[in-house]
Amino acid sequence: MDGNGRWARKRFMPRFFGHKQGVDALVRTVQACADRGVEYLTVFAFSSENWKRPAEEVSGLMGLVLVAVSKYLTRLSDQGVRIRIVGDRTQVSDKVRQAWEQAEASTCHNTRITLSVAFNYGGRWDVVQACQQAVRLGLAPEEIDERRLAQLMALSFAPDPDLFIRTGGEVRISNFLLWQVAYAELVFSDCLWPEFGEAELDAALAEFARRDRRFGDVKAPERIEASAG
Ligand code: FPP
Repeated sequence: MDGNGRWARKRFMPRFFGHKQGVDALVRTVQACADRGVEYLTVFAFSSENWKRPAEEVSGLMGLVLVAVSKYLTRLSDQGVRIRIVGDRTQVSDKVRQAWEQAEASTCHNTRITLSVAFNYGGRWDVVQACQQAVRLGLAPEEIDERRLAQLMALSFAPDPDLFIRTGGEVRISNFLLWQVAYAELVFSDCLWPEFGEAELDAALAEFARRDRRFGDVKAPERIEASAG
């Protein structure tokens, strides 16, 4: 969800205003995804590296969690949204942790769409914490394979993403779902996150539909040709 700061600056507003509008864009996007039958949506709300931002912005983002949960939790829950938080919870304040726990607990029976909010999350952190768990469980090296490690990762409850969308014009992954995006289709959009909505989502889905996914295999016509002779 990149581009909040630039969106606000373009309007001569503080960056926090962009993050605030970003929450509205998120709620809009969850609804649009649910309407289109998307069952899992994972968003990057706060990265392990975002602590480097000015203290005022960091505390603004933490405060926004509390505001967003109190403003939107009932609406999202009524729409059948299950909320899950992925990331290192040990470093966030008790208030933020409790807000996330409330969001998770009060939506745990919902099944229409799972919204995973990556918060104090990093793809590298996730790989490391999965390895740490493997060691704690006393797994032998031969017991560790891709399937076993995936079970220990923060998003083990969700299938690997089919589509990865980054807004804001940057063309990089920035430590998001490093392990899980191995075969995701990547779509980069110049749209700044607060402006993201149904039209941008549909454009990304249309782009996804045009991609030829082979997961390491050859193209289908070549497979038929090869088996024919
Ligand atoms: C990146 O844009 C965005 C973030 C670091 C924060 C994303 C957070 C939200 C959209 C709010 C959702 C929050 C909750 C509580 C779920 P940027 O600020 O780096 O934008 P820029 O590249 O234009 O400066």
